Amino acid sequence: MSLFASTSAAAKGKARDDDLPVAFELPWSVPHHRPHTLDDIVGNTETIERLKVIARDGNCPHIIISGSPGIGKTTSILALARALLGDNYKEGVLELNASDERGIDVVRNRIKAFAQKKVTLPLGRHKLIILDEADSMTTGAQQALRRTMELYSNTTRFALACNQSNKIIEPIQSRCAILRYARLSDKELLQRLMEICEIEKVPYNEAGLTALVFTSEGDMRQAVNNLQSTFSGFNFVGADEVFKVCDQPHPVKVKALITDCTKGRIDGAMDKLDELWTAGYSAVDIVTTLFRVVKNMDGLHEFLKLEFIREIGFAHMRILEGVSTVVQLGGLLARLCKLGMKPELFVLPKA
Ligand SMILES: Nc1ncnc2c1ncn2[C@@H]1O[C@H](COP(=O)(O)OP(=O)(O)OP(=O)(O)O)[C@@H](O)[C@H]1O
Ligand SMILES: [Mg+2]
Repeated sequence: MSLFASTSAAAKGKARDDDLPVAFELPWSVPHHRPHTLDDIVGNTETIERLKVIARDGNCPHIIISGSPGIGKTTSILALARALLGDNYKEGVLELNASDERGIDVVRNRIKAFAQKKVTLPLGRHKLIILDEADSMTTGAQQALRRTMELYSNTTRFALACNQSNKIIEPIQSRCAILRYARLSDKELLQRLMEICEIEKVPYNEAGLTALVFTSEGDMRQAVNNLQSTFSGFNFVGADEVFKVCDQPHPVKVKALITDCTKGRIDGAMDKLDELWTAGYSAVDIVTTLFRVVKNMDGLHEFLKLEFIREIGFAHMRILEGVSTVVQLGGLLARLCKLGMKPELFVLPKA
């Protein structure tokens, strides 16, 4: 079903009045279109609701937000801090990210000094130490945090964001409420992209936005950045423009390749593979696009879909192990074609 089925009334952005290039603008994802309040953050609704309750009632526990890149972790923590502390944000929040020195000395000195600092805050509010990208902190530094977190917890709370929660040592995890963010759904990405198109007056078509959603795989930052790059480069957001900017194999071509495989047409499939290969796409690009196209393909029999995904998975594994040749991909196509053919064709005639 088309992504646009339920949003067909979406207003199309109009072309900018002026034809000036937009190449020198700041990235749209940060800070232009970073949501400032929890209400504006899309996706992960249940978790965001929890944060809203915390923002309303105060008494924020230590929290860890973990999840893949570009889905709103930093944005949520900043919005939560703003909601909790409002005008006291400046003196009540210490924000450290991976670009700051966060070794054991910083924990011993800067973090501890901030935790000990006296700041007058409204009732039920605490100072907040934000440790963004906390998975890059050394184990030693994390160990040094344990005691500080406990000692000063009546005045200071910690909010950590990370991509992999297993990089945070167990004792810190046990002191925190862990919130896991999922990648954003296609619908959520689309909703936000349309809002931005409206604000920036970006002319687009449905295929263009669908292509952005397809290429960004649930990563909002990437979707917004690709939207901006496409608009800057072409002044219009259509599917072809997006795939030129993102430089990924065009799913329409990949779909045609898969269709050949389902019908057992190895020659056609090989020709399409050659086309992609000579266009310079790597084996990983091709195999990951194959996976995404098969996953979303309508009209593919469920049995075939399962088997195709299985074969593509094995090929992906071999490619990652180092065999990223066109022969490997050819082998994959041969196996897919075999699945698409009638089994009787493989029975040798009796002599
Ligand atoms: N859920 C969301 N709703 C709206 N915009 C979002 C959302 N997630 C990300 N964005 C956009 O992407 C930008 C980057 O998001 P953010 O910094 O929160 O990502 P992150 O999850 O912290 O990623 P990383 O793990 O790379 O630090 C934001 O400025 C915003 O423009
Ligand atoms: Mg972040």
